[in-house]
Amino acid sequence: MSESDTPYRPVERPRRLRRGQLMRDMVADVRVTADHLVMPLFVRHGEGLRKPIASMPGVEQMSPDVAVDVIGEQCARGLRRFILFGVIDASAKDATGSAAVDVDNPVNVTLKRVRDAGHDALMIADLCFCEYTDHGHCGALCDDAALTVDNDATLDMLGEQAMVLADCGADIVAPSGMMDGQVAAIREALDDAGHDHIAIMSYAVKYASSMYGPFRDAGEGTPQFGDRRGYQMDYRRSREWMTELELDLDEGADIVMVKPAATYLDVIRGVRDACDAPVAAYHVSGEFSMIHAAAANGWIDLRAGAVEVTTAIKRAGADVILTYFAPQLIDWL
Ligand code: PBG
Ligand code: ZN
Repeated sequence: MSESDTPYRPVERPRRLRRGQLMRDMVADVRVTADHLVMPLFVRHGEGLRKPIASMPGVEQMSPDVAVDVIGEQCARGLRRFILFGVIDASAKDATGSAAVDVDNPVNVTLKRVRDAGHDALMIADLCFCEYTDHGHCGALCDDAALTVDNDATLDMLGEQAMVLADCGADIVAPSGMMDGQVAAIREALDDAGHDHIAIMSYAVKYASSMYGPFRDAGEGTPQFGDRRGYQMDYRRSREWMTELELDLDEGADIVMVKPAATYLDVIRGVRDACDAPVAAYHVSGEFSMIHAAAANGWIDLRAGAVEVTTAIKRAGADVILTYFAPQLIDWL
């Protein structure tokens, strides 16, 4: 319906529908439920390991055994969707991130153990090289003076990483490296390996952002030189998401993600209106930690702030929300 067709209905007393909780809950049309939430987990080698991340209150690096227990506990509470990030010891990193395709890396071990444990969890695996390369970039480097990331060499590596993740039990792979053509390369590799049922949640619209700071502590994947502006998007371009979205959909993305979320609500709305694929939004580490920092100072209420921001992301058009608040939101929503 165009705006001019909208029947004009003067409401002189909008406050009538704000009278009491029962009334407000009845007319509230945007709701976030546990089914919409994905909990990120950081896994690293070890046994019984729970290492708090200083810049992300309540978030920990865990060893695979602990992660499997946490996944079991959260499933019992109704939170059943998880995205795994690998944290790799510096000694196991190299220039091409070969640990990414090791079936015994922490992500793959966790996937196998979750499947062995029989938890009814939907497992998403982040698919990128920055946590595995010694230089911290999202792919292999070119042999040039600028040491830019070699797009096409990285595509082959991503395809291989996707196959290993699927073999180990991932339900969805989530490529986050912003290489051109990555979704097509991953789709082809998965299909060739008989994994045509594995979905791709692509980080289709991912901006180079200051909001990833705490994540880089958590994932220990900070670039050792330069930054990611040569492959992640420039937030000063307001229409470029259309190109990235179209490419990823053409290449076979099943779910498209916008990242960050809270300061990119306009982009989420644009993507939602431009396509019929499910849209995910990643409320990233910095966005999470800002709310915690303000709450720790007594400046805002943690619960109210977290619920409001998450609901705003949903209202903007996200179907799926990746958030570090997921375990708390189960109780708070
Ligand atoms: C790696 C990756 C990053 C995040 C998710 N996957 C960091 C980056 O791109 O630098 C950020 C998530 C967060 O900040 O919570 N490609
Ligand atoms: Zn990366």
